[in-house]
Amino acid sequence: MTEKTLVTWHEQSVDRPRGCVVWFTGLSGSGKSTVANCVDLKLHESKHRSFVLDGDNIRHGLNASRELLEPNHGLDFAKRFGLGFGPQDREENIRRIGCVADIFCSSGMITLTAFVSPYRSDRDRVRAMVIANGNDSDFVEVFVDTPLEICEQRDPKGLYAKARAGELTGFTGIDAPYESPANPEVHLDGSAPVEQLADQVVQYLKSNDKLKG
Ligand code: ADX
Repeated sequence: MTEKTLVTWHEQSVDRPRGCVVWFTGLSGSGKSTVANCVDLKLHESKHRSFVLDGDNIRHGLNASRELLEPNHGLDFAKRFGLGFGPQDREENIRRIGCVADIFCSSGMITLTAFVSPYRSDRDRVRAMVIANGNDSDFVEVFVDTPLEICEQRDPKGLYAKARAGELTGFTGIDAPYESPANPEVHLDGSAPVEQLADQVVQYLKSNDKLKG
């Protein structure tokens, strides 16, 4: 027990082989969720244990906004725990989901995460934690590199149009920054077909011994 936590780590009885964390990052509309789901399907079909943690979905529950929390928890609670899109809120979003991904990884799961995660320092903190609990190859950063113009053309949720119209502020790529990974394990050209991008990720996992069994 340390003074900082006042809680004690309890060793688990079952020693499981770790999975890994495959961390997709890129602009909204870059294709992170689509590619991650395509990888998930391929891994599932080949009987590997995988799961996708998706930014938009996680923000419906675990990392809900103030607006979603208020009806059941009241305003004070919602103000304290609800997450938006300011830099600190994104930091907490990534911190929480980084911890969840690490837990999934320790359960043996190939954990695919799809979050914009625009700040390098937030992603690097998750990488450091995952590696500290396992080894260097447990964190695979996948940069879905799709030019802003293409993301904006796709605009699947109509959010770029809103951001350009000034109806939405702090939107990544428009008036909030996106810091590209300096050295991602996998660099995808997001304008290529999804199937091809998913195969590239699966191939990386295969050649790095992440698809055992
Ligand atoms: S992150 O930046 O904190 O990692 P996350 O991946 O959870 O973001 O959520 C991003 C999704 O929220 C986008 O795909 C988009 O649908 C929606 N969204 C709403 N507001 C914003 C915003 N200001 N910036 C980026 N995405 C936003």
